[in-house]
Amino acid sequence: MALGLTVNGEHRSLDIEEDTPLLWVLRDELGLKGTKFGCGVGLCGACTVHLDGQPVRSCSTPVSLVAGRKVTTIEGLGGGDDLHNLQQAWIDHGVPQCGYCQSGQIMSAAHLLATIPSPNRNDIVAAMTGNLCRCGTYNRIIDAVESVAQSRPTADGDA
Ligand code: FES
Repeated sequence: MALGLTVNGEHRSLDIEEDTPLLWVLRDELGLKGTKFGCGVGLCGACTVHLDGQPVRSCSTPVSLVAGRKVTTIEGLGGGDDLHNLQQAWIDHGVPQCGYCQSGQIMSAAHLLATIPSPNRNDIVAAMTGNLCRCGTYNRIIDAVESVAQSRPTADGDA
């Protein structure tokens, strides 16, 4: 089927099978490799992107559901060459070990900060529960999100 969608602010046209998971459209058709395949069944969060501002598991989102909508991936989270403040916090806190799950982690964190401008630690833990990390970087993830939350007076809508 032919469909159009907006990815990281850019309109894209595709001719693709309607049941193709969004993850493979992003990675294989559009070359956006930052979004990762983990479990493939919506359980690990490695493939998290934003669809019209809401976090979704791209591995289990058929591209037909995305037609005409706005997708944001880790590549589009910051502003051009500028890192998103969460990406900078990830660096400052040395969050990643293998790094594989981290783009999904950051996308979930970005949604949290867009919806709860000043989350407390419990809010952060609850919001990040669906994103798994085999390396066990959870404490550093929470510290990084908390540092951004504490440095932001208000939500800036950057998710
Ligand atoms: Fe999509 Fe695990 S790869 S949730």
